[in-house]
Amino acid sequence: MTYFGKTQNKPHVVCVPFPAQGHINPMLKLAKLLHFKGGFHVTFVNTEYNHKRLLKSRGPNSLNGLSSFRFETIPDGLSESDAEATQDVPSLCDSTRKTCLPHFKKLISKLNNCIDIPPVTGIVSDGIMSFALEAAEEVNVPVVLFWTNSACGFMCYLQFRQLIEKGLTPLKDSSYVTNGYLETTIDWVPGIKEIRLKDFPSFIRTTDPNDVMIDFVLWECERALKASAIILNTFDALEQDVLQAFSSINNLPPVYSIGPLNFLFKEVTDKELNSIGSNLWKEERECLKWLEGKEPNTVVYVNFGSIAVMTNDQLIEFAWGLANSKKTFLWVIRSDLITGENAVLPLEFLEETKNRGLLSSWCPQEEVLDHSAIGVFLTHSGWNSTLESVCSGVPMICWPFFSEQHTNCRFSCHEWGIGLEIEQAKRDKIEGIVRELMDGEKGKDMNEKALKFKELAIEAASGPYGSSFVNLDNIFHVLS
Ligand code: UDX
Repeated sequence: MTYFGKTQNKPHVVCVPFPAQGHINPMLKLAKLLHFKGGFHVTFVNTEYNHKRLLKSRGPNSLNGLSSFRFETIPDGLSESDAEATQDVPSLCDSTRKTCLPHFKKLISKLNNCIDIPPVTGIVSDGIMSFALEAAEEVNVPVVLFWTNSACGFMCYLQFRQLIEKGLTPLKDSSYVTNGYLETTIDWVPGIKEIRLKDFPSFIRTTDPNDVMIDFVLWECERALKASAIILNTFDALEQDVLQAFSSINNLPPVYSIGPLNFLFKEVTDKELNSIGSNLWKEERECLKWLEGKEPNTVVYVNFGSIAVMTNDQLIEFAWGLANSKKTFLWVIRSDLITGENAVLPLEFLEETKNRGLLSSWCPQEEVLDHSAIGVFLTHSGWNSTLESVCSGVPMICWPFFSEQHTNCRFSCHEWGIGLEIEQAKRDKIEGIVRELMDGEKGKDMNEKALKFKELAIEAASGPYGSSFVNLDNIFHVLS
């Protein structure tokens, strides 16, 4: 059926993630659900640089999309030679904010002038790609902002203005990072009884009154007020108090929990759709074979996500901590994990652990976490990793690096009781905490709690009355 020359047979949503792995993964799951369950025509927008990486990591046919699930690209504002800058969050935030809007506007009008696809009826934009709001206004369609972090993380970001007004950030000088000041407890964050300054997203630890990331967070939180709705990849039973508290924030649009997307996503049974991948690194699947035959709950899985970096000395501390724990481990060391160089592990370590440790550079994390052999997840507390661990019922050892990982770590350890934090990256501490979680009473208790949250997550994502299942339906209506 054509309508003024346009096929008006289904609503058409444009999905635009922030160009980083931890944002692309949830957005692609949501896009597939919008298409498969919501019946939307979908245009998924990657940056040109990531489009090439996705093709490389999955092979040319991986982005072939279906006729009504297509890919488009826009520049990210970084020159090709700045490739590693895409791993530098402040540069990437700054460049997308400053350069993407005209290209995105052009893309929307190109889509609206294509006669073989329906006109755009809605946009799902990453919460930190809010330039989409202006483009949406021009064509008068709703925007749903998808903040890909936890509800507690988002709530903390919304407090940055107040933290500044109360003089709690920026810090007077760098001594405040280590002099105990960050232990200051705050009791006025809506939905969060008590939280220390050190549990806020790490950007508040700056001493620079013109800090790029503080400015960026203030900007994006201000603009969030213009959205038709805000969605979060979490679920009511996990973050009830915080989710309810959003309604107390002036002018904030309705906030819907629609996670865990990996559970809702199980409904998507279209093979071709599922074959569309989102890995920016080449996935090594040998680890799944290596896990076969391992006793249940005997393997320590170690992975620090897609952006975190560490020094080689820290890497060696983790290595000996793992080795001295005598546990079997699967350790993913991303090619760019070590600042400025390749990871160099001591030969003695490799020799000593060759029969009980497997190193990989990028793995199918959700499948690994789902494997019965995994007993604990040593993680950087990125939100996707945290939620995936909850969905697999696996307790965590948390070593947060930056952004809202500290908030996720705080909640995992103190609210949900399914995590233990590594305070110091020293081999004896790491060894002790691994043993405690794998063999101790505390580990058993955390295991039980993690399995309980897994059940609650399944319930939230189950139709017809699961909280996230119902919320996702509401979002379909907002967008169509
Ligand atoms: C970043 C921030 O760290 C995080 O705090 C924010 O919420 C999202 O953006 P990232 O550091 O990449 O995310 O961590 P995480 O949120 O855990 O996302 C990583 C994703 O990559 C997960 O979906 C994980 O399953 C996947 N992954 C990671 C793999 O598939 N294989 C790997 O080897 C490592």
